[in-house]
Amino acid sequence: NWSMETFIEDKLHEIRGIVGDKKVLCALSGGVDSSVVAVLIHRAIGDQLTCMFVDHGLLRKGEAESVMEVFGEKFNMNVIKIDAKDRFLTKLQGISDPEQKRKIIGNEFIRVFEEESNKLGEFDFLAQGTLYTDIIESGTKTAQTIKSHHNVGGLPEDIRFELIEPLNTLFKDEVRKVGTELGIPDEIVWRQPFPGPGLAIRVLGEVTEEKLQIVRDSDQILRDEIKAAHLDREIWQYFTVLPDIKSVGVMGDVRTYAYTVGIRAVTSIDGMTADWARIPFEVLEKISNRIVNEVDGVNRIVLDITSKPPSTIEWE
Ligand code: XMP
Repeated sequence: NWSMETFIEDKLHEIRGIVGDKKVLCALSGGVDSSVVAVLIHRAIGDQLTCMFVDHGLLRKGEAESVMEVFGEKFNMNVIKIDAKDRFLTKLQGISDPEQKRKIIGNEFIRVFEEESNKLGEFDFLAQGTLYTDIIESGTKTAQTIKSHHNVGGLPEDIRFELIEPLNTLFKDEVRKVGTELGIPDEIVWRQPFPGPGLAIRVLGEVTEEKLQIVRDSDQILRDEIKAAHLDREIWQYFTVLPDIKSVGVMGDVRTYAYTVGIRAVTSIDGMTADWARIPFEVLEKISNRIVNEVDGVNRIVLDITSKPPSTIEWE
């Protein structure tokens, strides 16, 4: 019978016992799991923890700022932000294959992490937000890998740290409860899943800054409106994608030739299967109008009405 209070107390005790007076490094992504790990360990050992937040330039609008504000300011944790946007964009130049994009981003992440953690000095432990489900999924990889996810084993194999994974007995809903109990704001605790390669797999084909901007801005509008309609906890994931399509439109008296933006929203229990979310027409109408009017370079909005399977949640 799982009790959150005893879980937290037990883990604080355990972490202090393992770490002693040594130093811990944590890769903070802004996702639920790494956030909860970071705050939990910070509560146990305070400034013996350093968090590294790598901004690969593929995050949603406002995300990097919010991570720094919540963890750096509110929790007063030692968070180092690495601005690696140019490195990632340069590496992605000319690359349009989805799996290649994932590999490049995964490898570059490891490289940045190694280089930057070396600069920070010596650490004895590396904290990771591995969940029970991550262990199960990677342990039973019998079926072919449809997409390479790099949440597990995404760090170098010759890693010189000892791992601490205090959430590795928990399921997602339990992690959320722990997060709330630790005082982490709802926007993080209830954050929708977001892929490690970020917006790079929502810009179909080659990634450019111009295209990223369109996805970031349209995604922000979609998120605002889904929240305003109180659908944000019902829908598992909701985001915009930018297929590499331009089509003809008319705005005022002027013919336009601009990008199409796709809306993807799904309900799901675990991401393994999903159904397309039946967002009310009025909400869709508002989202469509706002994106076309407010985001430069867009003149058409389409809605993805396929389930998983046969589609996947992401378009790449
Ligand atoms: P798909 O698109 O395979 O997505 O139906 C299932 C869930 O996994 C997320 N996803 C990823 N997460 N790295 C990640 O960390 C990835 O490369 C990746 N690809 C998909 C997706 O957002 C959904 O929640």
